[in-house]
Amino acid sequence: MSSIVTIIDNDILVPTLQKGLYALAACSIIGTAAYLGYKAAEPENKNILQNRNPELNERIETVLESLRLGDDSLRQIMQLLEQEMDTGLSPATHAKADVKMFPTYVRNIANGSETGQVLALDLGGTNFRVLLVNLLPQGEVRLTSKIFVIPQSIMLGEGVNLFHHLADCLVDFMKQEKLNQPGVHYPLGFTFSFPCHQEGLASARLTSWTKGFTCAGVVNEDVVKMLQKAIDEKNINVQCVALVNDTVGTLMACAYKKPHTSIGLILGTGTNACYMETLDRVGTWNGDYEEPKQVIVNMEWGAFGNNNRLNHVRTRFDEEVDLSSVNPGKQIFEKMISGMYMGEIVRLIILDLMQQDLLFIGQCDNYGDYRIPLFIRGGFYTKFVSTVETDEGIAFSNTRRVLQDMGIRNPTYDDCAIVQHICKNVSKRAARLAGAGLAVLINRINKPQITVGVDGSLYRYHPRFKRNMEKCIKNLVNKNIKFEISLSDDGSGIGAALTVAAEVLSCQSDKNSSDKQKPKQRRRSHV
Ligand code: GLC
Repeated sequence: MSSIVTIIDNDILVPTLQKGLYALAACSIIGTAAYLGYKAAEPENKNILQNRNPELNERIETVLESLRLGDDSLRQIMQLLEQEMDTGLSPATHAKADVKMFPTYVRNIANGSETGQVLALDLGGTNFRVLLVNLLPQGEVRLTSKIFVIPQSIMLGEGVNLFHHLADCLVDFMKQEKLNQPGVHYPLGFTFSFPCHQEGLASARLTSWTKGFTCAGVVNEDVVKMLQKAIDEKNINVQCVALVNDTVGTLMACAYKKPHTSIGLILGTGTNACYMETLDRVGTWNGDYEEPKQVIVNMEWGAFGNNNRLNHVRTRFDEEVDLSSVNPGKQIFEKMISGMYMGEIVRLIILDLMQQDLLFIGQCDNYGDYRIPLFIRGGFYTKFVSTVETDEGIAFSNTRRVLQDMGIRNPTYDDCAIVQHICKNVSKRAARLAGAGLAVLINRINKPQITVGVDGSLYRYHPRFKRNMEKCIKNLVNKNIKFEISLSDDGSGIGAALTVAAEVLSCQSDKNSSDKQKPKQRRRSHV
């Protein structure tokens, strides 16, 4: 078992020493300066380490040990996930599956030849975006977008109000972009990043809300119909042609640039993945079996563990996060990984160590009024985890700032080192769990070369999530597969537009062939 002493040794002293040694080798004057610098820092470190009671360090490690998942645990989790996937794909067991594995009706990945102008709505968290996507020849994309906030009152209110709000924002954006030419028909792609049972490309029933939404009257309803009704009330010539999950958008947007893309992954407020599956493995498929015999499956892997399959790796902090959420018992895997919950796990561990008098020692009395952000649920944002982990070396300037914002007035060097150590353990576990999930998909697809398109704030902004996840995947995937993880910029917006473009183009080509037999007046389309 490693102790905090070892962690401080490894993470801070070793790089400092190494830097000093390289400098010494390069130039004796700089070397002497580096040595003096090191010497200046050394006594403080040594004192802290000497002053710390090894037993306290051991007790911190005992708490954090519950977060550590070795490769064997991950392999076992991979097996459980694959079983759950098969349960979700089989019509006989789908109803009781955690991981729903919804077929999406998207069967072709983008190939870079799609062109046209498409509107897109992207709803998946507290921010909502309206986009105008211009798909130009040679895979060039031009994009205009506007962000709108979804107020808490709408997130938790009546569903009809949510869709009215979306339509209002769309009208506002179309005015701004002067998209109101009479007679022009605007196709729209709707990125709706919640679990939906799709009955077609433009027909999807919400099965449950996630990520803090609880709007009434939407579960089991067709969200495309609800959106279209709200749009039609505005008298604008917009038709929703496709609904896609953000994972699907991300896969499509990445495939537009990289042909080996067959997985889409989101690591943001929530987490989820989709991948291209062969039709003979999708027992729940009720569409045609024409070529291509494949369909993108939206896994909804965030729900893995809802039937207690992950209980053996959950910690009491995970249980607490779950119990105080708006959807207890749901999205168990997501609650161990994604940005909506990571900061809260860290906060609960900090509080636990404070209670055991292992952190902010001798200062806890100062925080007795319980009004500081550290004591407020959700007070430690996940972006703070990233900020704390960007600190390298012994100054801990970011960590200090975060702790001061949390109401801890004078954190010591030790306090900062311990808080960073907590953050590293929590984010590493998340990266390894996501990595294990991806490894299942990579092994299942089993092609020599696989690209994974990824998007989401956690992946984008956390300083070592990507590295930790990739390292873990390398140990878990079949050695004959080369995989690449590629950040997919604006995937959820562009992907919806690409799906629409592909759909409208294919309808047009169908129409063209029937037009040849029976001439009809063509409708003007923006694609
Ligand atoms: C949640 C949603 C899922 C989405 C993911 C990432 O898990 O249920 O549909 O893809 O968040 O936004």
